[in-house]
Amino acid sequence: MAGAAVLLVTLVASAAASRDTPPRKIAVVGAGIGGSAAAHFLQQLFGPRVQIDVYEKGTVGGRLATITVNKQQYESGGASFNSFSLHMQDFVKLLGLKQRREVAGKSAIFGGEQLILEETDWYLLNLFRVWWHYGISFLRLQMWVEEVMEKFMRIYKYQAHGYAFSGVEELLYSVGEYTFINMTQRSVAECLLEVGVTQRFIDEVITALLRASYGQSATMAAFAGAMSLAGIQGNLWAVEGGNKLVCSGLLKLTKANVIHARVTSVALHNTEGRALYQVWYEKEDKMHSDFYDIVVIATPLYVGSDSNITFDGFQPPFEEFVGSFQSTVTSLVHGYLNSSYFGFPDPKLFPFASILSTDAPNLFFCALDNMCPVNISATFRRKQPQEAAIWRVLSPQPLERPQLKSLFRSYYSVQTAQWQAYPQYGSRMATPLFALHDQLFYLNALEWVASSVEISAVAAKNVALLAYNRWYQDLDKIDQKDLIHKIKTEL
Ligand SMILES: *[C@@H]1O[C@H](CO)[C@@H](O)[C@H](O)[C@H]1NC(C)=O
Ligand SMILES: *[C@@H]1O[C@H](CO)[C@@H](O)[C@H](O)[C@H]1NC(C)=O
Ligand SMILES: *[C@@H]1O[C@H](CO)[C@@H](O)[C@H](O)[C@H]1NC(C)=O
Ligand SMILES: *[C@@H]1O[C@H](CO)[C@@H](O)[C@H](O)[C@H]1NC(C)=O
Repeated sequence: MAGAAVLLVTLVASAAASRDTPPRKIAVVGAGIGGSAAAHFLQQLFGPRVQIDVYEKGTVGGRLATITVNKQQYESGGASFNSFSLHMQDFVKLLGLKQRREVAGKSAIFGGEQLILEETDWYLLNLFRVWWHYGISFLRLQMWVEEVMEKFMRIYKYQAHGYAFSGVEELLYSVGEYTFINMTQRSVAECLLEVGVTQRFIDEVITALLRASYGQSATMAAFAGAMSLAGIQGNLWAVEGGNKLVCSGLLKLTKANVIHARVTSVALHNTEGRALYQVWYEKEDKMHSDFYDIVVIATPLYVGSDSNITFDGFQPPFEEFVGSFQSTVTSLVHGYLNSSYFGFPDPKLFPFASILSTDAPNLFFCALDNMCPVNISATFRRKQPQEAAIWRVLSPQPLERPQLKSLFRSYYSVQTAQWQAYPQYGSRMATPLFALHDQLFYLNALEWVASSVEISAVAAKNVALLAYNRWYQDLDKIDQKDLIHKIKTEL
């Protein structure tokens, strides 16, 4: 944090000359939801005149992607959002997209040999059923998640008032004080045991829920865990036509200039007291470069990642985020489920559309879902288990043939997507900075404490506000303490 203070001092001293001029050009590296949302928020703040170039080495949408099976598209990455996803809801409205209708289907939890929790309704944690098995644990879990979410939702208010944070720790502290910082350093299991949730409930239910969304167990950090458990209330939703439409839609709306190229380095030049960045990129085997006033990096940077961007002329505070990513494999299998595997010899009697799993030692998958395509007609109904259907299997490793043969009686096709989906949330980790240099920002910093599509959008807005407040020297709007009270008196 001392580093950040020094940066700010040089910033204040140097920038007075061009105080009122807006930036000419901004580069955003990465066209996933983070980069697309950042382009949108930057343009909202700086106005339509600023040119925004968005670099993407793969496809627009990033970890929001679809796979086509039998002429229908299915989500292969981030599949659904919870009801707390306010920025995503705004984007969908703004772009004239629609939320996709929820098609009812029941869930169950598989313990490796048999189903240990079956649902009577589509909502997994059907209260009576869970109450019968686990008593008060479920209510305690709900209260814990609600308390965390209630605090986290403060960020929307701070952002609506223009406040930004230069580091993840500052952001977490402002919404949840030491409790939140603490939750990045303790495990889900530790925190839940403390509020009176039983070990059995953690092992059987919490673990299954976390595996289905993060592929990690209850030893993962409590903050990331709570964010992912926020979906337990049900009311998950997705975008009609595919979630990735939000990314392409936002880029089109901003009239951002999308450059399909791999960014290799960012070099610092100083002109008239302001930093100027030269972004080098590789396109069709040739190196090119361009100059920018502001650069936002919206792709994961970590040792061994495939975005190995180097920095010249300055040393970004980097050593703070060594870590590794959790690899998740999505397999879309078109075939007939082997319901015997789950103890249902007659497939007609298998009532579930979705199976979560515990971390029993020989289980090779995290979750299994009977998928609906991204476009569904009014008459659409889910395929019955005795029919050939599209099943999505989430697993830590690519599925091997014998594994597929045990899960499916037979299948027509298997298509896979492998994601470096989210960081491995070790229970202890230093929290990284959004501000890597005067006007160079790292959006994915927030991913190191929790990762979801909505969290990327929150980080995008934070980075856009941070760039804006720094550009116009509005330092009162950066890293302010005690915002809850400040905002009350401002109103
Ligand atoms: C987190 O909070 C708990 C309970 O208040 C406390 O015992 C623990 O020492 C804290 N851990 C850290 C790392 O601050
Ligand atoms: C799917 O939905 C999107 C968004 O509503 C729409 O633009 C597209 O035309 C639809 N495609 C089909 C095949 O219905
Ligand atoms: C960066 O990664 C790409 C692809 O993985 C590789 O071809 C390139 O050599 C790497 N560059 C550096 C500087 O490590
Ligand atoms: C289906 O699952 C059962 C039980 O695990 C197993 O014995 C069988 O080999 C599996 N495969 C097929 C094709 O039935």
